[in-house]
Amino acid sequence: MTDQLIAPSAEHHGAAASVSWWRDAVIYQIYPRSFADSDGDGIGDLPGIRSRLPYLRELGVDAVWLSPFYASPQADAGYDVADYRTVDPMFGTLADARALIGDAHGLGLRVIVDLVPNHSSDQHEWFRRALTEGPGSPLRARYHFRPGQGADGELPPNDWQSIFGGPAWTRTTDPDGTPGDWYLHLFAPQQPDFNWDHPAVADEFRTILRFWLDLGVDGFRIDVAHGLVKAAGLPDVGAKTEWHLLDVGVSPCFDRDGVHDIYRSWRTILDEYPGERIAVAEAWAPTLDRVANYVRPDELHQAFNFSYLGTAWDAAAQRRVINESLTAMRQVGAPATWTLSNHDVVRHTTRLLQSDEGDVAGRKPAEVDPVAGLRRARAATLLLLALPGSAYLYQGEELGLPEVIDLPAEVRQDPAFHRATGQDGYRDGCRVPIPWEGDRAPYGFGPPDGGSWLPQPQNWANLSVAAQQGDPASTLELYRAALALRKADPALGAADNLRWCPAPEGLLAFERGAALRCTVNMTNEPIRVRRPGEALLTSGPIELSDDEVEIPPDTTVWWSV
Ligand code: NOJ
Repeated sequence: MTDQLIAPSAEHHGAAASVSWWRDAVIYQIYPRSFADSDGDGIGDLPGIRSRLPYLRELGVDAVWLSPFYASPQADAGYDVADYRTVDPMFGTLADARALIGDAHGLGLRVIVDLVPNHSSDQHEWFRRALTEGPGSPLRARYHFRPGQGADGELPPNDWQSIFGGPAWTRTTDPDGTPGDWYLHLFAPQQPDFNWDHPAVADEFRTILRFWLDLGVDGFRIDVAHGLVKAAGLPDVGAKTEWHLLDVGVSPCFDRDGVHDIYRSWRTILDEYPGERIAVAEAWAPTLDRVANYVRPDELHQAFNFSYLGTAWDAAAQRRVINESLTAMRQVGAPATWTLSNHDVVRHTTRLLQSDEGDVAGRKPAEVDPVAGLRRARAATLLLLALPGSAYLYQGEELGLPEVIDLPAEVRQDPAFHRATGQDGYRDGCRVPIPWEGDRAPYGFGPPDGGSWLPQPQNWANLSVAAQQGDPASTLELYRAALALRKADPALGAADNLRWCPAPEGLLAFERGAALRCTVNMTNEPIRVRRPGEALLTSGPIELSDDEVEIPPDTTVWWSV
């Protein structure tokens, strides 16, 4: 089978690379600590990932994106980086990273790594020295240190709130033990924000990009891509809450026009390397048009489509967001991207059934009927995989994993969980290690006596990879079939060619390429329509007659027309 691949190793980094592989790529997010644990410490690692690459190749994805595995005290699960060029020992070594990239390329999989440029860890050498060297340290200029307000500087320098809850400022103690300046952290106190006006910061990140590109990675996912540049003088936001900070033209710390200069300079670096190395922005901008700014031809390649992720399960709303996404991206010549789950949001098996799914993260997971949740999630996935552009999948969604909603407080590790009113206080439930095989935890995630850093539910045996593979009714086989069909029809992902078809209210119907129609019943009632052609793939059972079909609620069908 290997000879059927467009192997992205030697050739893909050379002239024979397929053109713009990323425009329709299906990219699978690996959350390293929760994927596969090779050494039994309960935390997934790079050798574990390496051992499971053949599974991903068989699943049919084009690339993997790895959440951070760099040296880090793990105050925010690795999004607090202490050394950008070192692998944290809990995940392995640089040699493991190199071997993983080599193996992935040998299997025809590309590798995207996470880059965290908005903030470092407070254990990063620059920040540690900035503190120990005291107020005169030149390293302080690489972060945002400011004197406090009030008679004794006892109040934060401005009114910004951390995304994780509480003030976005923490006061330091000077080397002589007296209270000192404050520093800015849009996230946890252990994540001080870099000052991107300082040339050493920009230089450092250009070097980091080259380091990983030289190691062979195919691209980067840019964390908080919208946050790097802050308004001069760090002005107060007034009465606005953190979410209002995203309003157009209002935020002093998000989606500032200045970020685009940074991405232009990064694009020139990416383009120096063969094989179309890419970058995808995690950019929470207020409108799709503002998101499109990040993927102009001389900037990044893709941006996550959080508008789509946050749209309710409603035919009119879905049609609107799909149209708006395609229009916004078309204007800048970039592919749209589609995603339903990641490590920050409630898994879509649970979220799409919650009444608050309009809230983009569905942050307060509620108990839902698991059968109904899975039915809707499967329908949503088949819709997503029929859309033009690139799709991002999150590990475990191919198994239909639900959000784990009953983790006790003492095992939770999300830094926001214990900070009242934080944005993302409930993220542990989508990060539970995934089940591979066996009838008991850790279900092949690691050695039988290894445990897992978050406890796995007792009823996950029938959701494991081993339990599902070969069963045509399983969610795993649905994903495999959809990805195989997508691969077999290049017109499916690639061209920006969606055509809406007339359909009764509540039924989404569109065609792609020459021969595929996708119909999605988003209502609570069955819908009977003329049968469009041969059913290629369905997310659930349908009733067919010679010339009609009855599509049950929450069901998607791919037709050959
Ligand atoms: C976005 C990441 O996806 C999230 O997990 C992290 O907490 C924040 N950025 C801060 O780095």
